[in-house]
Amino acid sequence: MSILSMENVSYTYRNRYQTVNAVCNVSYEFELGHVYAVVGKSGSGKTTMLSMLAGLDLPTEGRVLFDGKPTSTLNRDRYRRENVAVIYQSFNLFPLMTVKENVMYPSRLRGIRKKDALRCASEKLELVGISEQQSKRLPFMLSGGEQQRVAIARALASESQVILADEPTGNLDVENTKNIVGILSDLSHDMGYCVVIVTHDLSIAERADVVVRMVDGRITEDQSPHDNALLHCRS
Ligand SMILES: Nc1ncnc2c1ncn2[C@@H]1O[C@H](COP(=O)(O)OP(=O)(O)O)[C@@H](O)[C@H]1O
Ligand SMILES: [Mg+2]
Repeated sequence: MSILSMENVSYTYRNRYQTVNAVCNVSYEFELGHVYAVVGKSGSGKTTMLSMLAGLDLPTEGRVLFDGKPTSTLNRDRYRRENVAVIYQSFNLFPLMTVKENVMYPSRLRGIRKKDALRCASEKLELVGISEQQSKRLPFMLSGGEQQRVAIARALASESQVILADEPTGNLDVENTKNIVGILSDLSHDMGYCVVIVTHDLSIAERADVVVRMVDGRITEDQSPHDNALLHCRS
């Protein structure tokens, strides 16, 4: 069974001036152990879709299901704390906490004892290649690539099986992009995470197991990596 799915999901932004149908009747299933790249032009609805998967918003119509249960029936704070982890382009680390404190944060939120939270943080930081010495610094003292690795470690500390990333390499150079995508894809293939990466970087799409293309709020096709050459040609 899929870990995360959308059933006829739509999302409409409404304000005084306009109504925008950002996501239109999308159905899709995401499975554990796979990396998905969601690609599409700016404004095609990628971030809106990710927000609903992340439980930041509920669909205007349709349902998002986590492990078969509609997110509308789950405790949303708990869902966001324990079931899905989100990684952003701008890293979003807490600037006044050390790297290690950042990674301990999800465990502390769940009421885990400091000693155990510390052990978990060290383990996750090691997994993404951040040294003990680096972990004592404040985030701004690390490079962009390192900060994004810390954000991944923090996502892992939440024990979520689903990692959602919105343009995670948008602020990184080619080398660091490769590194981050390599880490996310290893996590998925070796440890069974479901990883969904929103990106307009075709080199990331090439590394994904499945490419989900969005056009005007709809998913138009879904491709295996072997079809990615096509994707190159069209773009
Ligand atoms: N807060 C908002 N209010 C109104 N319209 C919005 C808002 N956020 C996004 N939109 C619109 O919804 C559509 C999809 O946006 P978004 O999901 O951010 O696309 P993407 O991430 O693919 O660039 C766009 O037309 C955008 O202008
Ligand atoms: Mg976006």
